[in-house]
Order: sequence, then structure tokens, then C-alpha cells
Amino acid sequence: MIIARKIEQLKTLLAKARLSGHKVGLVPTMGYLHEGHLSLVETIVPYVDLVVMSIFVNPTQFSPSEDYESYPRDLEKDIKRAESAGVEIIFSPSVREMYPKGYQSFIHVDKVSEGLCGASRPHHFRGVTTVVGKLFNIVQPDFAVFGEKDYQQLVVIKQMVKDLNFPVRILGSPIIREDDGLAKSSRNVYLSPEQRRNAPLLYCTLQSVKDAFEGGERTGKTLVEMTRQALDIPEVQIDYIELVHAESLQPLQGKIHSQPVLLALAVYMGSTRLIDNIRLQ
Ligand code: PAJ
Repeated sequence: MIIARKIEQLKTLLAKARLSGHKVGLVPTMGYLHEGHLSLVETIVPYVDLVVMSIFVNPTQFSPSEDYESYPRDLEKDIKRAESAGVEIIFSPSVREMYPKGYQSFIHVDKVSEGLCGASRPHHFRGVTTVVGKLFNIVQPDFAVFGEKDYQQLVVIKQMVKDLNFPVRILGSPIIREDDGLAKSSRNVYLSPEQRRNAPLLYCTLQSVKDAFEGGERTGKTLVEMTRQALDIPEVQIDYIELVHAESLQPLQGKIHSQPVLLALAVYMGSTRLIDNIRLQ
């Protein structure tokens, strides 16, 4: 396992690997690794010869009121976990290395960044696409993988890759959950014991709405309303619940026919923001 902190060091390592004909896979993360992150490594391994994981808490995707400073970090533990999952190189740069003094360039993806999480976190995806674009240029991976837990992020990155001709193939990877259904997230550590007890309600609700959909309920508005009612408890503050086209992320309100549909939500439990989603078709 090699830990690279500098861009030039990483580039030299990767140039050698590429000369030996190795295909390179990139797993971008902000660390504090859990099984969700490690499952991304499993997804990408069959496609590549060498797995690079980036661990970088990216300041440009947090607004000033968000949890950048307090975001959980544990590089020592991450290194052990990543190594046992099959990661060969960890890229863990400093903020100055990624954003040197005088930095002023950003990547903005229009439409698909705007709804859902983009509505309540207006600069978030600009930060994500910028750092991921930089990582693609630094690592020049053949493949990169992103989790469906952050479904909008996956769609935004696919759009960026298509629009800006990044020579990389993007893989999506399914949501990994706790035994009680809560989607694994680095931020789950913020939940109080009582909030943690209530948190499985999110997935439970998504599943029951999926059941209603499969039972024949096809009106977008009704499915969203069912979700809202099921989450109407004092411990949960709804940021959004939306039924969208699973590729364009455009809202669907009327009758659903054969289009791929995603039911996505974001809620606050106290000050902790949780997101989850389910495919309905
Ligand atoms: P982070 O939240 O650390 O997540 C890194 C990757 O792990 C993302 O692709 C995310 O979708 C995936 N992931 C997290 N929890 C998951 C789960 N329970 N099941 C499946 N996949 C899961 O997402 C980011 O970091 C950042 O925005 C990043 C892309 C690294 C850019 O800074």
C-alpha cells in the first residue's frame, strides 16, 4: 500500500503502472470509510489492475454553515480498511495541494445539479464536480466508481464526463445498508441514540411506497404524499421528497408509465442531514 500526499508523486507512480499496461480504477471518497465505501472497491476491482482511492474532505463542496470542520476523519483506520479491501494506492492530499493559493477554476454542471440536493445546497455540486474533475485529470483513471446512495452525484458526474469528454468510464454501485435498513454514511455517527433508533424509518418508508407502486399506484403526487405522511414524526424534518425520472432527474407528478423512476429524499434529524432513495422501476 502506497500513500501519496503529493500530485506529482502520484502521477509518477501511475505513469509507471500505465507503462506496464495496467488499467487504473479510481474510488473517490472523503474518508471515514465504512462498508459502503469498501463495496465500491469490490465493484471496480473486476474492471482494473490497480485501484487508487482518494481520501480528501473537499472544502469546496461544503457551505460555510455545513460540517466541513467537524466532518469525521480517521486516516490511520482508513488506511487499514482500504488496504484489506484491495486498494493499492491512497491519494490523500492537503487542501493546499488541491487548491493552491490563487485557485480560481470551477466546473459547473447545469440542470441535473439544480433540483433535489442542489436546491438546498446550491454550491455543493460545483464543489463535487470540480474536485472530481481534478481527480480525473490527476489520476487519469480508466474507470471510476460512485455509490447510488448519492444518486444525484452519480448522475451529475456522468453528465460532466459526457459533456466534457473525460476519457473515463463511470460505474454505479448499489447502496449498502445497516441490518435495520439505514443507508451507511460517515455522518451516521452524528445521530443521538434516539435519532439512530428512528432513522430506519426512512428506508422502511421507501420500501412501503415501492410496495404501493408495485401494487398499482401510479400517481406521482400520491406516492410523494404517502412518503410525506409516513415520515411525519417530530424527530424528522423533511428537506425534500421527490419522484423523478431516474436519468434526467426531472420531477414526475402525473401518471407514471414506463419511465425509470427514482423516489429520493433528504431529511434532517436534529442537525444531521440524511439522504436515501429507491428505484421504483
Ligand atoms: P463520500 O461521502 O465519502 O462518499 C464516497 C463514495 O462512497 C460516494 O460515491 C458515495 O456515493 C459512496 N457511498 C457512501 N455511502 C455509501 C453506501 N451506503 N452505499 C454505497 N455507496 C456509498 O461522495 C463523496 O464522498 C464526495 O462527494 C466525493 C465524490 C468524494 C467528492 O468529494
